[in-house]
Amino acid sequence: MLLGLVLTGSLYAAFAPSSSADSAQSDQELVEQGRKLFLVGCSFCHGQNGEGVLTQDGNQLGPSLAGVGAAAVDFQVGTGRMPMVQPGAQNPTKPQAYSEDEIDALAAYVASLAPGPAVPNPEDYSLAGLSPEEREEAVTRGGQIFLTNCTACHNFAGKGGAMPRGGYAPNLSNTTARHIYEALLTGPGQMDTFSNGNLSPDEKRDVIAYLYSLREQPEYGGFSLGGLGPVSEGLFAWVVGIGGLVGFAVWIAAHTARTTKKKESAAA
Ligand code: HEC
Ligand code: HEC
Repeated sequence: MLLGLVLTGSLYAAFAPSSSADSAQSDQELVEQGRKLFLVGCSFCHGQNGEGVLTQDGNQLGPSLAGVGAAAVDFQVGTGRMPMVQPGAQNPTKPQAYSEDEIDALAAYVASLAPGPAVPNPEDYSLAGLSPEEREEAVTRGGQIFLTNCTACHNFAGKGGAMPRGGYAPNLSNTTARHIYEALLTGPGQMDTFSNGNLSPDEKRDVIAYLYSLREQPEYGGFSLGGLGPVSEGLFAWVVGIGGLVGFAVWIAAHTARTTKKKESAAA
């Protein structure tokens, strides 16, 4: 047994340092792989070294990516916003153009340019570890945070809304927990950034719990009308309700006109 212990000990001593050297080596390889992908797919707009590109008339083809962090790449490429295909007021989400491994490499490369927010760990955004009671409390707290910080742009039910200069705050009913967390961390486009100092990791998870709870909610009172709020609901009541009343009034008028005519012709 002693021999066994000594053997495992010396084996560990022999292999442990080399395994950490291995991982440093593979990090380096990941960055290198990411740099190659970046040169092909992103450097046209973001520059050979991610420094950003200005056109001759001073417009920005792509911003500098120094310091945006791995989280921004994981979000932008993971939701299909990047690579941008068509310049416009805002980049739409599209099917992902890169595999998960390629996104990891791109993220590692951009993170190597300057320190920035890292891709969050699953423990940070996953709701799986919460008991049903904890989850219920998280939903309540998350709802408060959402009402204070997000409804102005995303609507109270997370259905989204228009923004100035042709932009829009998207509907949040399909965004994954990881991308919600990363959006908060990196503040894409016209959205504010909610760094961990402003909104702690626990509070971010509360917001995720709230947004997920909306997806499980049954639609009370029949049709949801898209959950777009009082304007669409009022419009619906106006068109269908008042429209129905007008139709009914016309029908009554036509009907009485016909019966009076019938009576007149019968009298004649
Ligand atoms: C056709 C030009 C174009 C290409 C190609 C392109 N981008 Fe972008 N990228 C932009 C523009 C413009 C923005 C700013 C968009 C905004 O703010 O909504 C941007 C924003 C970003 C951001 C967000 C920066 C921030 O401040 O949070 C990241 C990250 C990013 N791009 C990564 C990439 C990666 C990685 C690729 C390659 C896979 C890529 N981009 C390809 C034009 C481009
Ligand atoms: C000033 C308006 C504004 C506020 C406040 C705001 N957002 Fe956003 N949000 C946006 C815009 C605009 C986008 C789209 C950016 C883009 O595509 O470049 C966005 C994108 C997102 C996305 C990505 C959606 C997707 O499917 O890709 C999530 C998630 C999100 N916001 C969550 C939140 C949460 C949670 C809050 C509150 C803590 C919040 N936002 C506050 C404007 C806002």
